[in-house]
Amino acid sequence: MRTVRVNAASQSYDVLIGKDAVRELGQQAKKLCPGALKVLVVSESNVAPLYLDRVKAELEGAGFEVIDYVFEAGEQNKNINEIAGMWNKMAEAGFTRTDFVVGLGGGVTTDMAGFAASTFLRGIKVIQLPTSLLAMVDASVGGKTGIDIPMGKNQVGAFWQPSLVIEDISFLKTLPDEVFTEGMGEVTKHAFIMDLELLEKLEKANGDIRSDEDLLEETVYMNVADKAGVVGEDEHDNGRRQTLNFGHTVGHVIERDSGFTKPHGICVAKGMGIVMDACVRAGTLAAEDAERMKALLKLYKLPVSDDITPEAIVEGAMNDKKKRGDTLSVILVNKIGQAEIKKMTAEEFLKFLSV
Ligand code: GLY
Repeated sequence: MRTVRVNAASQSYDVLIGKDAVRELGQQAKKLCPGALKVLVVSESNVAPLYLDRVKAELEGAGFEVIDYVFEAGEQNKNINEIAGMWNKMAEAGFTRTDFVVGLGGGVTTDMAGFAASTFLRGIKVIQLPTSLLAMVDASVGGKTGIDIPMGKNQVGAFWQPSLVIEDISFLKTLPDEVFTEGMGEVTKHAFIMDLELLEKLEKANGDIRSDEDLLEETVYMNVADKAGVVGEDEHDNGRRQTLNFGHTVGHVIERDSGFTKPHGICVAKGMGIVMDACVRAGTLAAEDAERMKALLKLYKLPVSDDITPEAIVEGAMNDKKKRGDTLSVILVNKIGQAEIKKMTAEEFLKFLSV
């Protein structure tokens, strides 16, 4: 079992990473949630049949009364109605401030479980149990929680750090290939923006980090350590944490324009490729470095471009929550392993993206 400590300004906590790590859940919850009697396990329709019974057994074995809330899987259900369902379930069961929530699933689930916890009784504890690669390396760590509204993804939410994250590598065995590939979008992003050693490891693995469980665990660990470092420096996204948005400004527009049918990690990969090309055209990124990064994306079956126009990207991006005032913070990688934040107006961003 490996442990990463996240030292966020508001709260420090451990991320436990390993095979069968879920066995730690009951005892850890007893230690971290003193006085708790009840727990709401939030999960979705694909994950619950696989892991809900196991998770419930761990919690019941530690003496908790377990109530579950299972929603229909999919980004389209990341909305306020489901959150209200979670609030009602906790209220009906008589939850108090010492009780807690467990998020069991991918990023949609951990974001929603965290948001329900952050708002119920003005905030109760949450333990995250991510089951997808994307949620393990990104969504479940760092306390970003929330829901989508018709105008955009994650537009409503709160920073609410978990009390613990348990990443059971064995859970990744049942992940469909395309969902695993999506997670590689965020893994490669971490390599490009801050971790040359990770990039070299991914190149050496030659497109397969899945069949070797030790390599998979180590890769997840490296990603979590990367992200923990960033969150420890800038919990509230006012500085360095924004570099984690590499590929996201463009990717979110592609994702929203598809009606959220294109997976997030795939859209991020497209966004990274589009920004890399723009950096090469601007003369700030060497063509061979862009080719090396794009080759890695392709090696892990990720796309590097999209037919969206620069005009559509800029129009969509100006509605994004990453906009501050009338400028956008665009994340660039001009040297492999280093990201920078560049403020651009709509006109500058359009010029930057245009061939
Ligand atoms: N997913 C980006 C962040 O946590 O800031």
